[in-house]
Amino acid sequence: MSRKNTDKVVFHQIKVLDAGAKGVSVAKAPDGKVVFIPNVVPGDVVDVQTFKKRKAYYEGKAVKFHEFSEHRVEPVCEHFGVCGGCKWQNMNYDQQLFYKQNEVKNHLQRIGKIELPDFEPILGSEKKFFYRNKMEFSFSNSRWLTEAEIASTEDLGNRNALGFHIPKMWDKILDINKCHLQEDPSNAIRNSIRDFANANGLTFFNPREHSGLLRTVMLRTSSTGEIMVLIQFFEDDKANRELILDHLHATFPEITSLLYVINNKANDTLYDTNVKLYKGRDYILEEMEGLKFSINAKSFYQTNSNQAYELYKITRDFAGLTGEELVYDLYTGTGTIAQFVSKKAKKVIGVESVPDAIKDAKANAVRNNIDNCEFFVGDMKVVFNDAFIAQHGQPDVIITDPPRDGMHKDVIEQIMKIAPKRVVYVSCNSATQARDLALMDEKYKVTRVRPVDMFPQTHHVENVVVLELR
Ligand SMILES: C[S@@+](CC[C@H](N)C(=O)[O-])C[C@H]1O[C@@H](n2cnc3c(N)ncnc32)[C@H](O)[C@@H]1O
Repeated sequence: MSRKNTDKVVFHQIKVLDAGAKGVSVAKAPDGKVVFIPNVVPGDVVDVQTFKKRKAYYEGKAVKFHEFSEHRVEPVCEHFGVCGGCKWQNMNYDQQLFYKQNEVKNHLQRIGKIELPDFEPILGSEKKFFYRNKMEFSFSNSRWLTEAEIASTEDLGNRNALGFHIPKMWDKILDINKCHLQEDPSNAIRNSIRDFANANGLTFFNPREHSGLLRTVMLRTSSTGEIMVLIQFFEDDKANRELILDHLHATFPEITSLLYVINNKANDTLYDTNVKLYKGRDYILEEMEGLKFSINAKSFYQTNSNQAYELYKITRDFAGLTGEELVYDLYTGTGTIAQFVSKKAKKVIGVESVPDAIKDAKANAVRNNIDNCEFFVGDMKVVFNDAFIAQHGQPDVIITDPPRDGMHKDVIEQIMKIAPKRVVYVSCNSATQARDLALMDEKYKVTRVRPVDMFPQTHHVENVVVLELR
């Protein structure tokens, strides 16, 4: 049987057992293999039509519901099920937390295979919706059509859309009317941009031919009430560019930072583009416990500001600082954790690979009158070497918050070599965290574990772990 065998089979009345990785639920087929099914909730009993068969599993979709799970809730969003953004909106929040904590536990036990303490209960997010401070929307002249629209014989008019990519379809955009992830005026601004562009005949990006004026919109909001809007244009058309930017400025005078980029690269990533200021200033301010952080268009900032505060408080608590410690904050980004713990430490050294982030970190420390933090740029596995330690001192505590891939093995080896008494490991991917904890097991014992939910309605989960020297 070919690995790509796509023969369709229907499994009748199977019970959904688990909510698995990537937000897709899991059931068992009659032959014992796993079946991955989107948009169902553990406890549902369904008929599943498979569309993919692999050696160890099937992928399918529910075609008939026989029983609904007691954990189901009505999704609030009109785009649920088509938009790939909030896959767990049909599951109640307590269950979401249960499955997130379960995933962390499974990873730490199965991949880590290390001795673990009892977990501290996962910290849920107070805001279940409208918690994101940053959203990006794409323009396309090739809107995703509903089945009814495809079947219809009526002229559908223009197919312009401003919204999200349909999962696994790079050229299809779901037109978004109301997204429940970012608070207002996010929806109003996005919809106004689209309506104005349509009314004035401005062209939307054609992803196949690579043409059109309007490419993406990034919206950032902050806890201080400041707003950043950045429009990415594909074509350099001054008259039409100013037409829409002036419209935005006049309609939403509350926009603090109105920016644009002309980008005719093959991709729409911002990091290597020249961001231009149109109105206001080129940054917005975030505030946390009296500290101010300036955020420019390219800055990384935790996307759920309220929950970032909770995550940082747990991190600081887990670090157990007395005011006497030299702390290293590895993968410091714009130095937010470093500054957040600085009052409780003698000195903090932050290291990060993105030069602009370190520039922000230094500027923010000055803004916050913090003089016991120093920041350094470089690839961690290169910078964090013996000479660096000799120059900056032996850390008492290391806080590490690496990207999804986890830490490079050379970084892990260096931590073990210099052996600080405590390491606090913050992770957005408990699978790679588990791998790293296993590598450190010889020297470090895991003494505290606490998952934190930064992203309600999705399967993503953050996890904070304390490692103590054996
Ligand atoms: C999960 S973020 C943590 C940011 C920060 N701790 C915060 O809370 O805002 C991971 C950071 O690691 C940085 N990074 C990624 N790879 C790196 C590397 N090889 N060396 C140093 N920093 C790296 C990224 O640029 C990013 O800022």
